[in-house]
Amino acid sequence: RDAPLVLGIETSCDETGVGIVRGTELLANVIASSMEEHARYGGVVPEVAARAHLEALGPTIAAALAEADIGLADVDAVAVTNGPGLAGALMVGVGAAKALAVALDRPLYAVNHLVGHVGADLLDHEAPLETPTVALLVSGGHTSLLLVRDLVSDVELLGETVDDAAGEAFDKVARLLGLPYPGGPEIDRAAIGGDPTAIRFPRGLTRPKDQASHSFDFSFSGLKTAVARWVEQREAAGEPIPLADVAASFREAVVDVLVAKAVAACTDLGVPRLLLGGGVVANARLRELAEERAAAAGIALRIPPLSLCTDNGAMIAELGAQLIMAGHPPSSMDFGADSTLPV
Ligand code: KG4
Ligand code: ZN
Repeated sequence: RDAPLVLGIETSCDETGVGIVRGTELLANVIASSMEEHARYGGVVPEVAARAHLEALGPTIAAALAEADIGLADVDAVAVTNGPGLAGALMVGVGAAKALAVALDRPLYAVNHLVGHVGADLLDHEAPLETPTVALLVSGGHTSLLLVRDLVSDVELLGETVDDAAGEAFDKVARLLGLPYPGGPEIDRAAIGGDPTAIRFPRGLTRPKDQASHSFDFSFSGLKTAVARWVEQREAAGEPIPLADVAASFREAVVDVLVAKAVAACTDLGVPRLLLGGGVVANARLRELAEERAAAAGIALRIPPLSLCTDNGAMIAELGAQLIMAGHPPSSMDFGADSTLPV
């Protein structure tokens, strides 16, 4: 039997993503982002994102079909992110996917966004996914540590952020340093030549007393406040702000915690594999530190190409294909968008 041809739709945040796969073969991955529209607000505005999805979805589906060189009639199944994410944004994708599935008379698969990030690795044939694996997913919307025993049937949430997502911390600190949105690449640029040990910013939830209660949870709001205080005190004293040192020290605090907890999860659980996903993977220092510490701990590290790490429709299509190939029944048509959908 031929591998299923699946069209996947992703609208959980500010990226309108449509991907097409045949089995684990990537046929198309088209993304329209409303990032620029959010820039002047310093973060993603849910209403603006939902409206942008509505405008972008039709053209993005058409572009994906063209890229895959297929017609709608060739599609065997439709997959869509139904959570977690922004409720209004998710609703646009879910509505469109249902309409498409009904019009084409094809099965529809509701997919969890976070598990989709893990499934993206199957499309990277240089480093196909092996289980069990620990997955660290870091973006502007989520910071989650998962234990994946089986992609379609056994994914466990080990920990997540109790306040800001890691990417959000980059965005907020960039803002308070007077840098534009999105903050991640700006902080990276500002950190060039900076000393990461210049200022010892706090590492959230890593002290021994925190370990017992929430060992794999993250917290970045204290770090953001610490940077704000440090800058305020300098300014009050009339001293100049050493931007490169602040940026490098802040970035080091974030990636130190991310990598420490991910490696600790692998070690504690005896799982010698770590997968990274999400837009913050664009951070070169995160990748470098993860490579360093994973190698030291004997952990095989997998980092899919960035186009598969940031939010995209191909990862959603791929999870749909995996569900089909594992014999899962389609979702019934009555599912809705669930902004807090658990894994
Ligand atoms: O996955 P993504 O494209 O979209 C969602 O968050 O849904 O991730 C975007 C986030 C933003 O918060 C952005 O500041 C962050 O990823 N980011 C980075 C870098 N590039 C993007 N964070 C740190 N370092 C970077 N180089
Ligand atoms: Zn995401």
